[in-house]
Amino acid sequence: MAIDIRLVEETAQYPRPFLKWVGGKRQLLPDLRRRFPAFEGRYHEPFLGGGAVFFDLGPGRATLSDCNEELIDCFCAIRDHADEVILQLRKHIYEREHYYETRAVDPEGLTKIQRAARMIYLNKAGFNGLYRVNSRGEFNVPFGRHKNPNICDEGNILACAQVLRGATIICRPFERVKRTARPGDFVYFDPPYIPLSATSSFTSYHRSGFGMYDQELLARVFESLDKKGVHVMLSNSDVPWIHERFKGFKISRIKARRNVNSVSARRGFVGEVVVTNS
Ligand SMILES: C[S@@+](CC[C@H](N)C(=O)[O-])C[C@H]1O[C@@H](n2cnc3c(N)ncnc32)[C@H](O)[C@@H]1O
Repeated sequence: MAIDIRLVEETAQYPRPFLKWVGGKRQLLPDLRRRFPAFEGRYHEPFLGGGAVFFDLGPGRATLSDCNEELIDCFCAIRDHADEVILQLRKHIYEREHYYETRAVDPEGLTKIQRAARMIYLNKAGFNGLYRVNSRGEFNVPFGRHKNPNICDEGNILACAQVLRGATIICRPFERVKRTARPGDFVYFDPPYIPLSATSSFTSYHRSGFGMYDQELLARVFESLDKKGVHVMLSNSDVPWIHERFKGFKISRIKARRNVNSVSARRGFVGEVVVTNS
């Protein structure tokens, strides 16, 4: 029987994030992989987003968390009910009117399966995979300009469900990882980045934002995990504050292609760093 090479190549890339997320780490994976520690314990990702690093590592035991409740519910639905989410997702079409109708639906009135399918649909059909809510917590991203988006990538969703089976998934603030990580575990922090300049600040991942107070708290959590014998790794922007605050740890500079800027001429390479303790 002839093997369809295209299919083999495509499934070989699974699992990959089932949501496109601002700050997603897919394109940086080769740089990050080189710096992953050899660890025997549990994997923790307290700023989960699309979970690019988690899906790449595919650890048997993991604790995944984020403060975005809708995102966490969506991950739980994929882990526990992937088949049903797929059935719901198949009902959605890439069409402007359908997009705005779906966006206008109050997610509170939906089942958790319908809510997950709605979130994935809005993410695939909306502008640039953005997640943005207004002051009332309503999703307000406009319809995207895609050629032929793959709204329901069933093979990938099922592959994601498979790796998520061994994961505990919780909605909580990042600092809680301090209590749960044990010596020998590995924690990867991918927070909202420190803005490179006042105009490039992009902190509206969530209504609460993420300021310098949170960056300092994160540095303290990083240090206390290090003292406890946990492997820690942190991504952030290449700014003087990071070099100063993480003096004594290993800091590597890497270049990332970013397209969060709405003016396409200003999209391009920005400096990022990876801080590790091993
Ligand atoms: C840069 S994104 C993570 C991207 C992810 N690594 C990926 O590959 O898609 C940052 C994430 O941190 C979450 N976040 C922001 N503030 C937080 C907080 N105080 N505690 C936990 N999560 C937070 C946001 O909801 C967002 O999903």
